[in-house]
Amino acid sequence: MTDPQHKTYYITTPIYYVNGLPHVGAALTTVACDVLARYHRLRGHNAWLLTGTDENASKVHEAALEAGIPPLQFVEDLSAAFHTCWQQLHVGFDDFIRTTEPRHLRAVQEFVARLRERGYVYSAPYEGWYSVSDETFVPDNEVEDGVFKKTGKPVVRVKEESYFFRLSAFGDRLLAHIEANPDFLLPEFRRNEVIAFIKEGLRDMSITRSNRGWGIPFPGDESKVIYVWFDALINYLAATGWPERTERESFWPADVHFMGKEIFVRFHATLWPAMLMALDLPLPKQIYAHGWWTVRGIEGKAGKSTGGLPHPTRLSQFIAMRSGASFALAADAQRYLLCREMNFGLDTEFNVENLLRRYNTDLANDLGNLLNRSVNMVTRYLEGVVPEAPDHDHEIAALALQVREEFTHAMAEFRLNAALESVWKLVGRLNKYIDETAPWSLAKAAAAGDPTSATALRQVLYTCLESTRIVAGLVAPFMPVASRAILEQLGLETDSTALRWPDLAWGRLAPGSSVRPPHPLFPRIQDLAIDAATLFALCSAETGVASDVLSPEKESTNKVSSPDVPTPPPGTPVTPMTPAEEVAQPITIEEFMKVQLRVAEVLAAEPVPNATKLLRLTVQVGEEDTRTILAGIAEYYAPEALVGRKVVIVANLQPRKMRGIESQGMLLAADVEGRAVLLSPEDAVPSGARVR
Ligand code: MSP
Repeated sequence: MTDPQHKTYYITTPIYYVNGLPHVGAALTTVACDVLARYHRLRGHNAWLLTGTDENASKVHEAALEAGIPPLQFVEDLSAAFHTCWQQLHVGFDDFIRTTEPRHLRAVQEFVARLRERGYVYSAPYEGWYSVSDETFVPDNEVEDGVFKKTGKPVVRVKEESYFFRLSAFGDRLLAHIEANPDFLLPEFRRNEVIAFIKEGLRDMSITRSNRGWGIPFPGDESKVIYVWFDALINYLAATGWPERTERESFWPADVHFMGKEIFVRFHATLWPAMLMALDLPLPKQIYAHGWWTVRGIEGKAGKSTGGLPHPTRLSQFIAMRSGASFALAADAQRYLLCREMNFGLDTEFNVENLLRRYNTDLANDLGNLLNRSVNMVTRYLEGVVPEAPDHDHEIAALALQVREEFTHAMAEFRLNAALESVWKLVGRLNKYIDETAPWSLAKAAAAGDPTSATALRQVLYTCLESTRIVAGLVAPFMPVASRAILEQLGLETDSTALRWPDLAWGRLAPGSSVRPPHPLFPRIQDLAIDAATLFALCSAETGVASDVLSPEKESTNKVSSPDVPTPPPGTPVTPMTPAEEVAQPITIEEFMKVQLRVAEVLAAEPVPNATKLLRLTVQVGEEDTRTILAGIAEYYAPEALVGRKVVIVANLQPRKMRGIESQGMLLAADVEGRAVLLSPEDAVPSGARVR
């Protein structure tokens, strides 16, 4: 796949039509390309990522007219919306091209002029069907009852003098190139579709439409504009500065054009290579097509016209509000979830509840627990210092190596979901490893003076920290912000973008550095259910953000009346009822049993900025469950005194947001003349144990 000597690894996304706002379909492609770019940088290559907007289409013009906005203003605003959206998803594109820019116009006109000089463009009358929605000419046999059979979109009859591109001249050369370069078109089954399409016979293609005041004028005949696909594909070359000789000249040919399957066979895998062949320009090295997000109840590709796919920024906000994670980490979570849920190559159903569920299992539980447990145990048992260990666990180190290999293979085949799956094999194994090696028992024995246990403890915890560091490196292309946060908790100052592949070899974690107090990156989502109104607001095709449905106030069940006089937060010691109340309000045992009381271990505690009474606790409630609880006990307990302590919590209390942090339960404490005294089990009790 990658030629390490190659100066620049040039990746492109499709350029998106600006007839509506972005959604998670376009986000999937864009994020995947950004992941590839970041992965290549990790591998030491000089990756260069291009994205942009496709603005000369008739449907864009029509959308502007329909909206009553001057077309140039319309495309400017929507292009900016894509630009911002990608930035909010941490897409680090190197260039953003707009097809209304002069550099693109120049390249397109020059391209067409050169084709004409070489005799590959000629003029002839055209009569046939055109689908504006699909921006494509449609053969007669593909039209039924006024619609393009394949997409169901209406067609219009076009009868005009036109210019044609001699596509028919390139069938054999294309087939020969595809055969000689098995990695050119991927995945393999889609290459076969292309071969079948070309073998059916390529016909010359009309490449102009009458000039209605929108589009790139045909050089030498301003009564025509260039067909939008013919113009759009040239963006990949235009961004390298072509036809001028610039410092970007060497970027061409692109290493990979990445896209959804609907624009693969006819446009990227056939027309574009033929256009390049006609000018003797090198062909892109690889062209890859992924499948679509589908939505239950919507046939075919979900998108701008069907609705059903959320705006990526709204989805990040939604994840942040449901979980209590910061927006930046929620955006990272979305990147992970899109890449992990999509079965690259095939179509995949898009479902927000599935995403939230996976957020909990993969991010809050698996990855979150691994980090929390590792850092917490080092904090408690080894004074927070990365231990010097005479040895490490060889099985785990071998697995880390194997996972790196699997990851590499999957990335080379653009199977981003498979790459993540292999990393989670390591994450899952490590969580089990912690259970099996029971460092808490080793710590106890070590404290009692057993030197073998002390050595074993250092070895186990070094193994955990080192593996977590490698996991952070592997997920860095997918979650750059989270990766940096993990490395920080491990006490490493390395910016994840500065990591290089050799850094991910086993044993690079230097003993002696100090870990940071653990805190959960991805707080657990308590409420996975999404009602129809919320889903509608999230996924509606309308441009207006239904902010009331997604606002933090709506998400939290109790509002804080005033910042100065807050309502008692969850975790405020339970004030005992007066005897009169006790008599007046008896409850049944069934009612009492509805309250789930559990033993939890405090993993971390810290003050809440600007709240004198509150502490933010991270508690472990059994194996799979780490939570944030806000408790009004700051006046009575120092945070460090709480870490490692077992407490009793109400585990099924509706989560509530305070000071922007979601509290996911409440601590029990006795009220001793207004002072809170925490309740703790008398004996050693595992966290998660029920209290009845
Ligand atoms: N403007 C053309 C592309 C020109 S490239 C020279 C175009 N634009 S588009 O706005 O319709 O974007 C299409 C791309 O968005 C798809 O190829 C795919 O990458 C992405 N997706 C749009 N809807 C999608 C899904 N429902 N599922 C997955 N990807 C989707 O076509």
